Amino acid sequence: MNIIDIIERTKNSQPLSSDEISWLVKSYTAGDIPDYQMSAWLMAVCLNGLTEEETVALTLAMRDSGDQLDLSCIERVTADKHSTGGVGDKTTLIIGPAAAACGIAVPKMSGRGLGHTGGTIDKLESIEGFRTELPFERFSTIVNKTGFSVISQSGDLCPADKKMYALRSATAAVDSIPLICASVMSKKLALGADCLLLDVKCGSGAFMKTREDADKLAGLMERVGNAAGKKTRAIVTDMSAPLGNAVGNALEVKEAIELLQGKITGGALYDTCIELTANMLELAGKGSLEQCSAMAKEAIASGKALSVLRATIALQGGDPNVCDDTSLLPAPRFSYTVKAAHDIEITAINAQEIGMVSLLLGAGRLAKEDRIDPTAGIVMECSVGDKISVDAPLMTLYSSFCSDFSEAAVRALNAVGYKDLGKVNNY
Ligand code: URA
Repeated sequence: MNIIDIIERTKNSQPLSSDEISWLVKSYTAGDIPDYQMSAWLMAVCLNGLTEEETVALTLAMRDSGDQLDLSCIERVTADKHSTGGVGDKTTLIIGPAAAACGIAVPKMSGRGLGHTGGTIDKLESIEGFRTELPFERFSTIVNKTGFSVISQSGDLCPADKKMYALRSATAAVDSIPLICASVMSKKLALGADCLLLDVKCGSGAFMKTREDADKLAGLMERVGNAAGKKTRAIVTDMSAPLGNAVGNALEVKEAIELLQGKITGGALYDTCIELTANMLELAGKGSLEQCSAMAKEAIASGKALSVLRATIALQGGDPNVCDDTSLLPAPRFSYTVKAAHDIEITAINAQEIGMVSLLLGAGRLAKEDRIDPTAGIVMECSVGDKISVDAPLMTLYSSFCSDFSEAAVRALNAVGYKDLGKVNNY
């Protein structure tokens, strides 16, 4: 096989065979194909796409490029959930414990945040002492005890994706639906859970900005997962505004705990968590979607889900008392409240921009090696549709790294779309 011929064929929209795709991925991972030729092929994919058969072949070749986890030691049915990335998305901290409280196991390997989206590992590490780098044996023991554990990605999982994603990031080749599908699905298939729920985010804070693209990615991932023999379902959820009120690591843990304590019983975060948990349970064979939705609600209302989180935190070295007293989470040194300058009605909240402001405050990282501030972030005090009186709070910004909020406050205010209700603020 010959790399120039392969690039030429994809450039001319002529499909490759599974063997050719497998050879391409293997040769690139082994260092036998240089970055410039792989970049040319990836750009040809960005421009021309791949057939579904090619996407399945690419996904499987990437999955097979490294280690695969064997979860057969987990006693319950296992379910994994993957979100395509959003702002304020703390759903894993809620649905993992809720699904575990309903009798399935949720063994999760998660990543750190990069850019405007947060990562579950960063959120959990804001709990004092919580360890996410655990050997597989410890991870599986915790899953068998509580039904839920989260660790950071380790081992040599999907090395092809690591190399290809770095190239795509450096060559404007990230936003290709077949490449995103193969990248996400190869990692999820390598993790080995019995069922897989994909939460494809759609809106200003997501990779997929339009419903049409989100539906395309969701459908493709679902078909690729099922073609690879994994019970897979993909659902599209809204990311046009931050999910819930809190954005930032410790702030999001606090909001997740408050929901599990029964203090939040409606709204987008609660509804999304119930929908995701119900779908995981149904995939895992726990009943109809309606029954599973009722089970998810009961697991939260009864406090059983919070008990799972408490036990998992204790077993991973963190202080379980945060589940009863969120003031034990790290507190920010500085804060600033952004207020309405007029009487207004909120028409939109740009999730991506709120994510970027949170990053600016210290909650996220632009480069992988950046240090983050676990206390930093934003608590939204308004939602789309709310009428806000002059001088009432719109949001509060938090940081321990910086006390000068001037740039962040202007950007945060610009992220809020509103209709002026006509009364002018005179000072
Ligand atoms: N997340 C991934 O893991 N891969 C992509 O290609 C995009 C988002």
